[in-house]
Amino acid sequence: MTLSDLTLDRDGLIAALECTDPAFEEALRQEAYRVKVAHVGKNVYLRGLIEISNRCRKDCLYCGIRRGNAACPRYELSDEEVLAAATYAARQRFGSVVIQGGERSDTAFIQKITRLVKALKQIGTENGLPLGITLSLGEQSRDVYAEWFDAGAHRYLLRIESSNPDLYRKIHPQDGLHSYERRLEALYDLKAIGYQAGTGVMIGMPFQTAADLADDLLFFRRFGGPMIGMGPYHPNAETPLTRSGASYPSDEARFSLGLKMIALLRLLMPDINIAAATSLEVFSPRGRVLGLLSGANVIMPNVTPEAQLVKYNLYDRKTLLRDRQLNDVLHSDQIRIGFGQWGDAVL
Ligand code: 5AD
Repeated sequence: MTLSDLTLDRDGLIAALECTDPAFEEALRQEAYRVKVAHVGKNVYLRGLIEISNRCRKDCLYCGIRRGNAACPRYELSDEEVLAAATYAARQRFGSVVIQGGERSDTAFIQKITRLVKALKQIGTENGLPLGITLSLGEQSRDVYAEWFDAGAHRYLLRIESSNPDLYRKIHPQDGLHSYERRLEALYDLKAIGYQAGTGVMIGMPFQTAADLADDLLFFRRFGGPMIGMGPYHPNAETPLTRSGASYPSDEARFSLGLKMIALLRLLMPDINIAAATSLEVFSPRGRVLGLLSGANVIMPNVTPEAQLVKYNLYDRKTLLRDRQLNDVLHSDQIRIGFGQWGDAVL
């Protein structure tokens, strides 16, 4: 197919996702880049990612830090380590930080996050620029979400992982704790409280079809902005999904699907923030840059202390370098770095 054949309804999206003609894919990415620049400009906004803990009460069949993975050494950053990482991010003039970690419901952890959010506000102010604070800590009760919001967090990331309830059930244990309906409810709770709620999916998973991915894109449009982060699936050798031997698309196919999903989403939702996920970097050192050139406008440089970084192994081959020389990586006429800006989407 050619770009002029593309329609943004379900059938059109499926056709685009299934078309592997390199000329079409290149034209689609260029068009998405053009639409991005016209709507949100060339800026890429930076969110310093702090992976606070890999302890998790969930047991997702694809994830390396699932509760049942005894081979995963567990850690939790101290308050001091989190604040040092955030100070580094503030001094680098990243506008925001993301606190991400396994899902936990113990009171000590909940209180620690509340305390840290308040301290992070302070750090931003001391460094001359209030930090935007994003949390990504799984499903929590509405009260906990509200407590963290009142402490000063204003964005929350919670991927739906797949918008197809049947596929969701195939990649999660059926134990009552991993419910598609509960996850959706949590997403709507976040919105109701006033968070900028971001969601997303994994791309190129076992059992996933082009129709599933098209439906994911339409789900994002129904859910509304202001931000989406999605990235290619990668196997982790210690997980049931990998051990089951279920097949999934090749590296090349997942990379091109990942970029195509970004490009199609930019055409569907021209004004939102779209992250170029870390998992794009597995395929190429320019993975995220290609994401930016395909319509994404946010990246999340990892600022987790090095000793712990290696233990947040969601999947094998996760890039283990802290992102230091961003200027070098991102330097391009086609990208501008939005230093010192929160970079909220204007919808
Ligand atoms: N491959 C790619 N992404 C993964 N995540 C978890 N496990 C994997 C994997 N094996 C993603 C999930 C989660 C995010 C923090 O990491 O989408 O929401």
